[in-house]
Amino acid sequence: MFKFLTLLLVLVISSASAGRIVDYLLNMPIKNGCFEEHRKVLECVEPHEPFINLLELNLQQSSVYNIGLMRKVLQVSKNVSECIGEDLQCDSSKLVTFALNAGGYVGDKIYGDAFHCFINAQVPEIMENCTTDDLDPSELYNTTLIDETKDKYFECIAQQLYKVPSCKIGRIVDLYKAGHAAVDSYFDGVRFIDRADPAGLNLDELKYCDI
Ligand SMILES: *[C@@H]1O[C@H](CO)[C@@H](O)[C@H](O)[C@H]1NC(C)=O
Ligand SMILES: *[C@@H]1O[C@H](CO)[C@@H](O)[C@H](O)[C@H]1NC(C)=O
Ligand SMILES: *[C@@H]1O[C@H](CO)[C@@H](O)[C@H](O)[C@H]1NC(C)=O
Repeated sequence: MFKFLTLLLVLVISSASAGRIVDYLLNMPIKNGCFEEHRKVLECVEPHEPFINLLELNLQQSSVYNIGLMRKVLQVSKNVSECIGEDLQCDSSKLVTFALNAGGYVGDKIYGDAFHCFINAQVPEIMENCTTDDLDPSELYNTTLIDETKDKYFECIAQQLYKVPSCKIGRIVDLYKAGHAAVDSYFDGVRFIDRADPAGLNLDELKYCDI
């Protein structure tokens, strides 16, 4: 399970910004009454298109270690999200802002003080080493199983981080929050796409305060 998490950082962050959103929006069937909202989202993305195109051409797995680039991505994501605003009515725009906000939360945690630990410990490699089998679609709604797997996964990662001197406890906590938010958002997003249930599409940052 969680094999997908190897590329999770690139995915969360790039799906929060790069051409995926544009592609997604352009290919999305526009529901009745959603034309205006759809147009608004595209208008908010448009000024950033040169940067997004550049990113699409140059983004590699190693880009997660490029803090300057990633902070720029986060800034663009925030700008787009602020431009779109709240009170959305349509599923496609809800999913876009959810991805932007989740990516923003995760990115802010990683590309802050915790980055010292992230880069020295090579967290994406640790994630890969802690990965087991992929999740069966039928297990997507078994929260017991998902919670168990999540705990094991994060425990495995934490064990590796404790060995790295720059991974002071505060930094590990930040990465832990980022990881939980990323995994939860991933499942919320997948369930949303699977069952079109927008109930889960609310990033509750407070949930991660006491971790
Ligand atoms: C984000 O928006 C702010 C305020 O509108 C602007 O000054 C800044 O240049 C924008 N950043 C990016 C990366 O577009
Ligand atoms: C991942 O596992 C491989 C093989 O066991 C090991 O050589 C490598 O150092 C590990 N990487 C990290 C970052 O722990
Ligand atoms: C959910 O996963 C748990 C733990 O693996 C398992 O014991 C349980 O039978 C599963 N529940 C369902 C409804 O499949």
